[in-house]
Amino acid sequence: MNTTTSAPNSHLPSNLLGGKRRAATRDISERRDTMRVADPRPAAPPPAVRCREVQKHFGEGDARIHVLRGVNFEACQGELTFLVGPSGCGKTTLISVIAGLLDTTGGEVEVFGQNTESLPADDRILFRRRNLGFVYQQYNLLPSLTAAENAAVPLLAAGVKRREAVDRARSLLVKLGMEDRANAEPNKLSGGQQQRVALARALVHEPRLIICDEPTAALDHATREAVMELLASSAVQPDRAVIVVTHDNRVFHFADTIAHMDDGRITHNEHKN
Ligand SMILES: Nc1ncnc2c1ncn2[C@@H]1O[C@H](COP(=O)(O)OP(=O)(O)O)[C@@H](O)[C@H]1O
Ligand SMILES: [Mg+2]
Repeated sequence: MNTTTSAPNSHLPSNLLGGKRRAATRDISERRDTMRVADPRPAAPPPAVRCREVQKHFGEGDARIHVLRGVNFEACQGELTFLVGPSGCGKTTLISVIAGLLDTTGGEVEVFGQNTESLPADDRILFRRRNLGFVYQQYNLLPSLTAAENAAVPLLAAGVKRREAVDRARSLLVKLGMEDRANAEPNKLSGGQQQRVALARALVHEPRLIICDEPTAALDHATREAVMELLASSAVQPDRAVIVVTHDNRVFHFADTIAHMDDGRITHNEHKN
């Protein structure tokens, strides 16, 4: 006799199952409990990022601004997660806290199961350097370095030899349509070109977690699509994740999950794929 009890559509996400189907799935899973049949599916990997009741305020006394007001947020491994919400709602603050660039004032943040705030300062910097690529809204490129040298910085920091680091950075810039501009300094580049250098710098060391703040804001249609394709292909790898802050609804179709933020909290999550 076949004793497996998995529901016919158990491979589908629950949001694709109707109410009736969900009830049937629940019945079966209750029966599975009573029959003590081991679930043959592998356990889901931990989320790449998990925020629990995260609080952040700036300033003290009358000047105190409470920006994150109990954020609960997850970004799954293998997924491209968008963070969207009105200007000033706390998106940049939240990703800065996730990246360990700002400390929380309450709650917990884990990145690949590690509570980074609990690490000593040096280990925290190492953890960030190894695991994280971050694209800042204002790009933050170094003015005296060329585009390829800027994009190579994470590899140089990891001890890769200069020539190899710059070659790897250059080939990523080529993928982003920047082959002609790889030797230019940032002040000779347009906003969209600087944005692509910042993106190459975030990707070049193949970090497990990539976080981008408005990465398509200054891009034309073709470049926007190329950038999003590159981010989506980085995200699909099983032990990777990408979080993108964006206002740009022209790229929403690339997302696996869209987390909506308002007034310092996640209000709801939309699962797209
Ligand atoms: N370093 C800071 N000091 C004081 N206030 C800040 C600081 N950073 C952000 N804020 C304030 O926090 C709020 C949220 O900012 P931010 O996270 O940048 O929002 P978003 O990225 O959603 O536009 C804004 O009111 C902003 O002025
Ligand atoms: Mg912002």
